[in-house]
Amino acid sequence: MIEILPSLLSADFARLGAHIADVEAAGASMLHFDVMDGHFVPNLTIGTPVLQAIRKITRAHIDVHLMITNPDQFAPIFIEAGADSVSVHQEVCPHLDRTLRMIQSEGALAGVVLNPATPVATLDEVLDLADFVLIMSVNPGFGGQKFLPNSLNKVRQLAEHRDRLGLKFKIEIDGGIGPATAADAVRAGAQWLVAGNSIFGAPDPGAALVALRETAQMGLQQIA
Ligand code: DX5
Ligand code: ZN
Repeated sequence: MIEILPSLLSADFARLGAHIADVEAAGASMLHFDVMDGHFVPNLTIGTPVLQAIRKITRAHIDVHLMITNPDQFAPIFIEAGADSVSVHQEVCPHLDRTLRMIQSEGALAGVVLNPATPVATLDEVLDLADFVLIMSVNPGFGGQKFLPNSLNKVRQLAEHRDRLGLKFKIEIDGGIGPATAADAVRAGAQWLVAGNSIFGAPDPGAALVALRETAQMGLQQIA
């Protein structure tokens, strides 16, 4: 089952409620929420007041991607504010096993994220614990960047590893996903596709979502 997760970072924040309604009407059941701190990445975005506000207007699963240096401090606060899943970067988690267990004990799905320069092998010891792994296909910090093709090798490696070990974690991919890259991402083994600019940069975000889902499903058919 392929899910397209519209990334709210690329939405028009003055019309956030309307944009969420558009993509939900087009069938989005998950939304991606990017939190940046200006330290781990060179940008600042949105926090818990925005999450609480959108939690009231949507039943969709809200996937919070923490691009911050202190996720242990903030993960519980975002879960309290309405996150259904929280992902933390491997690069800032010296106690990743503890962090993932803490997120699960607070009541959310726990994910771990890898930057483009971080190898998949760094996750070997936590793969049986993670609910999902997010492969960054751009360097995090901004929407609208160009897809880095090496991320497909990492998705493939991770999918092979998962199948060999009989594990069940989902593989998410984030950055530069659009009509030209979605099918490749699915063929490599990704199930959750985050898409910002290719959805909210389009004149009709709902229609862009439907078209992207069809393109992604075509990638799935090519595997079968
Ligand atoms: C980038 C964020 C992404 C971003 C994706 O650091 O993590 O979620 O919104 O945007 P696009 O799809 O435009 O690359
Ligand atoms: Zn993200």
